[in-house]
Parts: sequence; structure tokens; C-alpha cells
Amino acid sequence: MKIAVLPGDGIGTEIVAEAVKVLHVLGLSFEMETALVGGAAYEAHGHPLPDATLKLAQSADAILFGAVGDWKYDKLERALRPEQAILGLRKNLGLFANFRPAICYEQLVDASSLKPELIAGLDILIIRELTGDIYFGQPRGRRVATDGHFPGAEEAFDTMRYSRPEIERIAHVAFQAARKRGKHVTSVDKANVLETFQLWKDVLTEIGKEYPDVTLDHMYVDNAAMQLVKKPKFFDVVVTGNMFGDILSDEAAMLTGSIGMLPSASLNSKNQGLYEPSHGSAPDIAGKGVANPLATILSAAMMLRFSLNQAEAADRIEVAVKKVLAQGLRTPDIYSEGTTKVGTREMGEAVVKALG
Ligand code: IPM
Ligand code: MG
Repeated sequence: MKIAVLPGDGIGTEIVAEAVKVLHVLGLSFEMETALVGGAAYEAHGHPLPDATLKLAQSADAILFGAVGDWKYDKLERALRPEQAILGLRKNLGLFANFRPAICYEQLVDASSLKPELIAGLDILIIRELTGDIYFGQPRGRRVATDGHFPGAEEAFDTMRYSRPEIERIAHVAFQAARKRGKHVTSVDKANVLETFQLWKDVLTEIGKEYPDVTLDHMYVDNAAMQLVKKPKFFDVVVTGNMFGDILSDEAAMLTGSIGMLPSASLNSKNQGLYEPSHGSAPDIAGKGVANPLATILSAAMMLRFSLNQAEAADRIEVAVKKVLAQGLRTPDIYSEGTTKVGTREMGEAVVKALG
């Protein structure tokens, strides 16, 4: 089993270090190799996704990823910005299926900005298509408009597109995931306006017939954004396109009040996967030792389960995380009165101990 470890920027290095510690005490044998990615790789090699990093990622069974990005790179040309590393990995490895669970931990109910009764027990799985849609559609660019409201003016354009097979494969992923949990899929689209999402809806409906044991409903994305805050527990599995999934997964994560707790997985058809916390690189707190490593540690658990066939070890990590929460340990992002505030390292070490 080979794991490519890509800590990246900002708090990425601190939180990945804790997850690596946890992986080391499980008594499993992996080969782990670390490489630079994002802004850190740009500084060292002039590119956010150097060839050596991409090759390492391609050769690994799984990638443990921290986070990339820093405001200081905002002025670089797009191709050199840290975000291109993650987009490049998704595209080159064909990581089309993105799993973003939004789970409300019992001890953290009060961290949400919603009323406790709305989110207690919340367990949503957002499945976001990750290699298509307006993120990757061609053509895109800037030019002088020849038609439209302002011919002769500068304009920019992107292309939203999905092919039937792209929709079919993510639909299967969603229905199969739903079978292992609440057996309810909500497909989010904008079929009332967009051709792309009329096809999406048609295909979801067709594939849904192969899964008669799973309830399928369709929701327009604007309504989905509203229902997520109105009645979040309505949802079980949400499946949607790349762009809507980007937006709704942040919203769903924040429902739990603790984005620092949420892991994610991005898989290709060979079950090779990239595992990363749902939060970003948080340059404002980088290097201070206060970032919450639990999302990354839980991402390592997802990695063991999905790509490395070590479900038992994954369970052990998840139990250990619940244990440290029950002990009252909290990083500042999830701290509340009456609990014990700890830093990144102490939290990582507490998980290691709880595994013991
Ligand atoms: C995410 C992020 C990325 C995205 C950025 C960093 C390119 O927001 O993983 O949700 O838009 O997909
Ligand atoms: Mg996002």
C-alpha cells in the first residue's frame, strides 16, 4: 500500500503531520512518500503541481492531501495558482466522485448556528461530480463580444456541459452509497433553466429505476440551498454536479458548525482516491498550532476504508475521535465553555492515545 502525502500550504503541513502520526500507530505497513504541492511547490519548483508530485500521486493507491492556497498567490496567472494543483490532480487521476459527509457530532450540536433540534443527529452525504461541468468544460476564455447585449465589449465565457456517461457513473455511485445508508437520494439540478441539467435529471431518473429500493427525488438547486437550512434532516444522499456541489457542500458543512471536523474523499473508477479535509488552508492561523487536525485524521480513516481496504482500522480511528470529543478536548474552532482547549498537536496526540 502506497500513500502519497501532500501537505500543501497554510495549516496543511500541521494537520497532515497529525494524521500521519495516527496512521503510524495502527500497526499496518504502508509506504508513505511526501511531496510539495500548491503554493509550496510553486515556491520551490515554479509550478503548483510539479511533474514529480503528479507522478507520485499517480503511482500511489491513495493520496493524503492537506490544503492549498494563500492570498499572496491571488495575483499569479491562473495556471500557476495553488488551486490548479487540486484541479490538476482531479483531472489527471480522473477523480470524478467526491464524497463530502456533513455529520453533526453529538458533542458539537451547539457549535451550529442553527437550532440544536434542527441538526442533532444530522448525517448527510453530498456526492459531488468532480471532473466535469463548468469547471472543466471547453471552450472558455476572454474575447471581444461579437453579439449579445454589448457587441464590441470585452467578455468572458465558460462552458457548462455533461455527457450521459459522466452522469450515469456518478448516479450509480450515489444510488450505491444510498443503499448502504438511508436509501434516499436527492438529485439537485437546475433543469428548469439549463439543458445540461435537464439531461442530468433525465439520466438520474433512468438510472434510479435500477434501484427500486432507493427513493429518488429531484430538487432545484436554489430550493436545495433553502431546504438545507430549513429542514436539513430531510436529506440523506445528495448528488449533484461540480459547481452546485461546490456551493452546497460548503453550506452543508457549516450546518454542523464545525467544518474543522469534516473529511472528504475523491475517487476514480479504480478506487484510487484523494483524501482531504473539507476546509481550506486557513493562512490566517497557519503555523500557530491551533488548527483542528480531526478532519484530516478522519480523511485518513476514509482513505483506509475506501482505497486501502482497511475498514477495521478506519473504524478504530473514528471511535478514537469520538472518544477525544467525549473527553472534552476541543481545538479553538469547536471550543465552548466547560470544555478543554487544546492545540493541533495535543489533539493529534490525544487521538493516538485513544487508539491505544
Ligand atoms: C473545493 C474547493 C475547490 C473547488 C477550489 C480550491 C478549486 O473550493 O474543493 O470545494 O472549487 O472545487
Ligand atoms: Mg469549495
